[in-house]
Amino acid sequence: MLEVQHLAVNYRGVCALENVSFRLEPGQVVGVIGPNGAGKSTMLKAILGLIPARSGVVKFRARSLKQQLQQVAYVPQRSQIDWDYPITAWNVVMMARTRHTGWFRQPTCQSEEVVAAALRRVGMLDLRKRQIGELSGGQQQRVFLARSLAQEAELFFFDEPFVGIDKKTEEVIFSIFAELKAVGKTLLVISHDLGESLSQYDNFLLLNKQLIATGSRQKVFTAANIQEAYGYNLNWFAS
Ligand SMILES: Nc1ncnc2c1ncn2[C@@H]1O[C@H](COP(=O)(O)OP(=O)(O)OP(=O)(O)O)[C@@H](O)[C@H]1O
Ligand SMILES: [Mg+2]
Repeated sequence: MLEVQHLAVNYRGVCALENVSFRLEPGQVVGVIGPNGAGKSTMLKAILGLIPARSGVVKFRARSLKQQLQQVAYVPQRSQIDWDYPITAWNVVMMARTRHTGWFRQPTCQSEEVVAAALRRVGMLDLRKRQIGELSGGQQQRVFLARSLAQEAELFFFDEPFVGIDKKTEEVIFSIFAELKAVGKTLLVISHDLGESLSQYDNFLLLNKQLIATGSRQKVFTAANIQEAYGYNLNWFAS
């Protein structure tokens, strides 16, 4: 479904990602793991064409993904969002609907219903008129989750969605992941703090500039793979 072949990225001549190839099938929740600076965010951005790739091909349903970016909902890492930008929670979610309504048109009734349903699903409808900068970290994350739902995409990319949120919000996010998976969507989720949540994922990509391992939990979380990615052994990973 999503096929990434030989993806490589340089930043000012320095290699951040090298020869990454993998395939994702529909109805999978895939965890992307690796240490700080491993190139996890870089990989998502390069797949989306937000930064130039040095080489590589990205196809979705056998066609170039760049021609069908509306099929991908992307929630960036918190540190990359400008939280002071003056926009309400409602309008953040409505941004996902521009493909359906066009930039300069009034939102359709259908878009308003989709936005309301998405905000309700994450428990944020009551706070829809708040400025995004006036919400807590967990509330902001919920709004961005709602935005991804409102896009009605096929592929979902989440960059560290669990950073700075409480247990309740984490549960909301995992229950939405399960719903998306059940209707055949594909999710790529960067998370370096998997902890107890390993069982929520179907497969993993272990990254450190290169793809060190990919596949099931048993296949990826071997002592040798973890040693190669992190440079030390993490006992709890193997358990
Ligand atoms: N815009 C940029 N210009 C130059 N170098 C960059 C840029 N963005 C990232 N890098 C470098 O590329 C490497 C990969 O960064 P990236 O943000 O993809 O890592 P990551 O795996 O997402 O890390 P983290 O877990 O800290 O989010 C790092 O060494 C980083 O310093
Ligand atoms: Mg990152």
